[in-house]
Amino acid sequence: MKGVLLAGGLGTRLHPLTRVTNKHLLPVFDRPMIYYPLQALLNAGVRDIMLVTGGNNAGDFLRLLGNGKDFGLKHLNYTYQEGEGGIAAALSLAEHFVDGERVCVVLGDNIIAGNFRTSAEAFARGQEGARILLKQVPDPERFGVPIFRGRRIVGIEEKPRRPKSRYAVTGIYMYDARVFDVIRTLKPSGRGELEITDVNNWYIERGELGFEILRGWWTDAGTFEALHRAGNLVARSGANKIERRARARRTPRRTP
Ligand code: DAU
Repeated sequence: MKGVLLAGGLGTRLHPLTRVTNKHLLPVFDRPMIYYPLQALLNAGVRDIMLVTGGNNAGDFLRLLGNGKDFGLKHLNYTYQEGEGGIAAALSLAEHFVDGERVCVVLGDNIIAGNFRTSAEAFARGQEGARILLKQVPDPERFGVPIFRGRRIVGIEEKPRRPKSRYAVTGIYMYDARVFDVIRTLKPSGRGELEITDVNNWYIERGELGFEILRGWWTDAGTFEALHRAGNLVARSGANKIERRARARRTPRRTP
């Protein structure tokens, strides 16, 4: 499965922090924000990745991530989104790269504790048209929120005033190759964006959207509160310490 990491948008909710840099380059505890979703894709077994970015600091991603070798990638591909046309618009730029395969999309401001490898592998092998990962949250009105009938999702509402469940649609999405045709049919929403929620509703209408509940903590980092929470969660996370220890073990010791 191919991977697409979305780091476009203007990050206006984080002004003035994002006046002179891209949101996804801001620090979250001891690393730039973009490291976490990139690592999440790698942990899920995805090795062929395209990063979509935009704004005035696109070159800084190249300086930071290079060709992806340090992360264990064969190649890291890049493309550029003009303006802020929405998540689905950003994804559409990766059509050529995805080239008819299945694709796992991760939003560049989403940070998770765990690993969704089992889910990604099941999707890669299976027949579902699309799959989303959900997480119970105290403030669902900030997110895409699923409406359940029994154990089925019958619709997703984007930032509803009165959420019909306590779940957020996280920024981890998996699609079959039709997703790019679906995006071509979308109309901009009230906020002038091509919404990923409309893509997901397309699959729901056809009974082709699967879902799973993500294990471990999850947060976005796109507001001041969320960015602060993300830093705290990472700092306290055992996973972070274990990974750092593993990294230290992998770094060869200099012979005296
Ligand atoms: O974090 C999960 C939520 O992300 C979902 O629950 C929502 O359904 C989904 O719409 C999205 O909501 P946000 O309003 O929080 O999305 P935001 O505009 O903050 O964009 C999230 C990431 O998507 C951002 O860090 C980079 C990427 N993006 C966004 C836009 C608008 C792009 O690459 N290009 C864009 O034009």
